[in-house]
Amino acid sequence: FTSCCWTEGISVHMVQMDAFCSDLSLRSAPVDLPRGVQTLDLSRNHVQNLTRETLAFHTGLRRLNLRSNEIHFIQPGLFVDMADLKVLDLSRNRLNVLALSNVSLGPLTAVETLDLSSNGLYTGMTDYFLAHSPSLEVLALNGNSITKIAQNTFSGSPRLKKIAGAFDSLSGLTNSICPKNSITLLNLSKNSVELFHSATSTDYYRLLSLDLSENKMSSFPLLPRNNRLERLDVSRNQLQSVNDTATPDEKTFFSHLRYLDMSYNQLQSLPESFFHCMRSLEVLNVSNNCIGEFSVADEGLLRTVKVINLGYNSLRSLTFGENTLRSLEKLLLRGNGLATLDSGVFRRLPSIEHLQLRQNNLQICSWGRNRQDAPGCVSFSSVPTLQILDLSDNQLRTVPADAFAGSPLKSLDLSLNPGLDMDRDSLSGLERSLVHLLLRENNISSLSMDLSSLTSLKHIDLSTNQLTTVPAWNRDSSIESLNLQNNHLVTLEYSTMLALEPSLKTLYMGSNPLSCCSNLDLLQMVQNSAVVVPDIETATCVHQEYSEPVNIEQVTQDMCLRPGGRYYAVAAVVVALVTVVTLVLLVRSLKLIHFKRISCSIFS
Ligand SMILES: *[C@@H]1O[C@H](CO)[C@@H](O)[C@H](O)[C@H]1NC(C)=O
Ligand SMILES: *[C@@H]1O[C@H](CO)[C@@H](O)[C@H](O)[C@H]1NC(C)=O
Ligand SMILES: *[C@@H]1O[C@H](CO)[C@@H](O)[C@H](O)[C@H]1NC(C)=O
Ligand SMILES: *[C@@H]1O[C@H](CO)[C@@H](O)[C@H](O)[C@H]1NC(C)=O
Repeated sequence: FTSCCWTEGISVHMVQMDAFCSDLSLRSAPVDLPRGVQTLDLSRNHVQNLTRETLAFHTGLRRLNLRSNEIHFIQPGLFVDMADLKVLDLSRNRLNVLALSNVSLGPLTAVETLDLSSNGLYTGMTDYFLAHSPSLEVLALNGNSITKIAQNTFSGSPRLKKIAGAFDSLSGLTNSICPKNSITLLNLSKNSVELFHSATSTDYYRLLSLDLSENKMSSFPLLPRNNRLERLDVSRNQLQSVNDTATPDEKTFFSHLRYLDMSYNQLQSLPESFFHCMRSLEVLNVSNNCIGEFSVADEGLLRTVKVINLGYNSLRSLTFGENTLRSLEKLLLRGNGLATLDSGVFRRLPSIEHLQLRQNNLQICSWGRNRQDAPGCVSFSSVPTLQILDLSDNQLRTVPADAFAGSPLKSLDLSLNPGLDMDRDSLSGLERSLVHLLLRENNISSLSMDLSSLTSLKHIDLSTNQLTTVPAWNRDSSIESLNLQNNHLVTLEYSTMLALEPSLKTLYMGSNPLSCCSNLDLLQMVQNSAVVVPDIETATCVHQEYSEPVNIEQVTQDMCLRPGGRYYAVAAVVVALVTVVTLVLLVRSLKLIHFKRISCSIFS
């Protein structure tokens, strides 16, 4: 169904009734396109004047792409006859010239999606452009210089559902946006919106998603009382508080809101009362603010929340009342420098599965607690829903015995805690559950725990430590990826590696002082098996005949047979022994000859 027809010496790519003529330096559509073309792609050409003639009198088009041309003139009424035209892309042209001369685009009788982005348009220009667009649902206006949206901007397009626009340097939107019609998605991201106060009316609004990210708002948006908003993004603004100054009459109810993103602002606090009107909230992102305290005491609040992201704040305190946050599955607390917590704080979260505690200052309490525990330590045992725990980069000193007993962890990250002292029973209780174990950059010189008892373990990262031996594993192991990079390994125990081989898929072994000839069997196994060594570039070994380390791929059996190799050393010892024995015998025989004067033909 694909053909290539030559028209005016130009190659036009046809797919059924769709014609693709992009990038051909055209000033108009090729004249002999087949009748009945439905899609015409004329993007990236040199069309300047858009007339019936430049479109080669095709009126049956459904999709017309004129992106990246030089259009500055459109014949009035051009689109009137195009009753099937649904998608019109006029982005990256010079429609500001057309708009200046007060010529309307329309009527756009059937157009549903219109892209006017990057046309140098500014405030007011869109008003008459869209005056007669009864079917318009999606409009892109980004990359223009529109600073203000008038109340009646979209009145000519009653079906508008989605505006993807960048209204640069928009200075104030007070009462100007009136998403009263059927707009369901309003995207005002990457503008300069300072205030979003929509009309205080009791009318019913259909807006479902409002994206106000990357603007300059310093207060939380005010929406009509009867909204159905499900998604609100106010990330990357200048919010300093959520204290609403609204009078009770103006107060917004966010009873349908499921997703709220307030990350990358300057919030200092987040009072519980803020969530009173959010009975359906599932995802709350308040990361990258300056929140010092987070507490939920009221059982009725945030009952539907599944994810809370409080990462990169300056939390000093975190408290949850009994039976609060009963749906919370994922709690992200990364980068807070949290040092002390109530030891049982995470046991109060009945559905918690994933705890991200990276970059804090926490210590782990021992099972049942004892006097040696650091004050303010946190307990991670007996959290029966917990599966993923990240305690990396916490300056952890010890992992006590049974630290995670009763918590069926699948993934445990204890990396970046240099000098970490792990009790030999620290991982007990995780034998059947643990799949991922990360112990990267811990300055560990030997592991006291028996990793072979972790029968579900598939991925283990031991990189950047000071290990001199590989932990012992047997044939029951199911390790798929093993990271031994950057340790002090001279030999990798061949029997261990042989036991791992059936399941092993990935092996990192670079940056170790491996010996070439004492790992010959292993290196041959690696060379011949399907195991992938991603850091093969740095996987080298030391050979006494070479001044530089040798890449493990280049090691051959012969290298270890030639002088200087192991075989030669053995041979030299044998030769030396034979010589010594011969000399001894010779001396003794000479003595015999001397004293007894008996000639012996053996040595003659
Ligand atoms: C475009 O139209 C204008 C007048 O409508 C005319 O002056 C100009 O020459 C035309 N340009 C091209 C490239 O056809
Ligand atoms: C809004 O537009 C931006 C690009 O300007 C895009 O990244 C973002 O995903 C859009 N938001 C929604 C909710 O579609
Ligand atoms: C906020 O956090 C949520 C959940 O972790 C995430 O999906 C979203 O991408 C984050 N927003 C930003 C702006 O990073
Ligand atoms: C790492 O261990 C070595 C001794 O094995 C010690 O000298 C060094 O100070 C340790 N480094 C850290 C950061 O704990």
